[in-house]
Amino acid sequence: DKPRVWVSRPTFPGVIARLEPHFQVTVEAEERKFSQSELAARLAGQDAVIVGLKDRIGAAEIGAAERLRIVANLGVGYDNIDLDAMSAAGIAVSNTADVLNESVADYTWALLLGAARRMSAAERWLRAGHWQATEFKAWLGTDVRGRTLGILGMGRIGQAIARRALGFGMPVIYHNRTPLPEADERGCNARHVDKQQLLRESDFLVLALPLTTQTRHAVGAVELAQMKPTAMLINIARGGIVDDAALATALRERRLAGAALDVFEGEPKVHPALLALDNVVLSPHIASATTETRRAMTSVAVDNVLAMFGHGPQAGRPPNILNPNVL
Ligand code: GLV
Ligand code: GLV
Repeated sequence: DKPRVWVSRPTFPGVIARLEPHFQVTVEAEERKFSQSELAARLAGQDAVIVGLKDRIGAAEIGAAERLRIVANLGVGYDNIDLDAMSAAGIAVSNTADVLNESVADYTWALLLGAARRMSAAERWLRAGHWQATEFKAWLGTDVRGRTLGILGMGRIGQAIARRALGFGMPVIYHNRTPLPEADERGCNARHVDKQQLLRESDFLVLALPLTTQTRHAVGAVELAQMKPTAMLINIARGGIVDDAALATALRERRLAGAALDVFEGEPKVHPALLALDNVVLSPHIASATTETRRAMTSVAVDNVLAMFGHGPQAGRPPNILNPNVL
């Protein structure tokens, strides 16, 4: 009997097919939010699962999954998975670090420039039929050249974002729990500062840190009040890192000039106060959503499952395990 793999959503069938010689594969035909009891029922009897950010997996969901050896997450962030509970049960967890860095960094700049140049609001105005003549002083945005880019959370995505700043003529400061080694700082032209200084000096502040109990509301009313009223906030990390209600208030009162958000507290719901604002660019959690990258993410998940069961070039050494102590 081949071991069983469950894939919680349609992905790239050509990539998933690499599992088929070795596993009995079940792929959900439609993507949806499963209830916790549906998840538990689907995990039961599986040897491996490939899941995504909507699938919240903790001790209760693996209660009946006696054969489960690996949870492969389609995402670099893994706040949807209780890593301690998986480790306690001897279940490996993998993510899709690295393959999405460049796509996410590109998209961050799309958001940053979109906010600086008011692209979303201008397009809504055009689509609404308001464009009669081009006025010299209509839709004035702000240049980014010479402005300071601040990055909170300087992992591999943060560094990919920072590297692009050279082309836009922006100096980069960042804050991270652990400052980068000097060579890496030089590689992305970035200077470490404390969080207060980052908040005070950034003209564009990008959030690129994981959501943990320590980073929840890392940017709330207090932090927003320290930012320049001309500054813009860009969140490509996770909803919940920003207090969305406090952000909406700051934007409405023009204590902050603008924001661009790909992620939200309580997604797919978006705080109605944000929806009502014109000085914010919004998108539905798509920073890694290119065909190339979503296929590569699928491929990484498949590689980790194969390796876990002794197949493929990395047999026995799954490359993206977050809790290697279980191996
Ligand atoms: C489609 O099936 C793909 O693997 O890209
Ligand atoms: C997407 O949000 C990811 O964590 O990859």
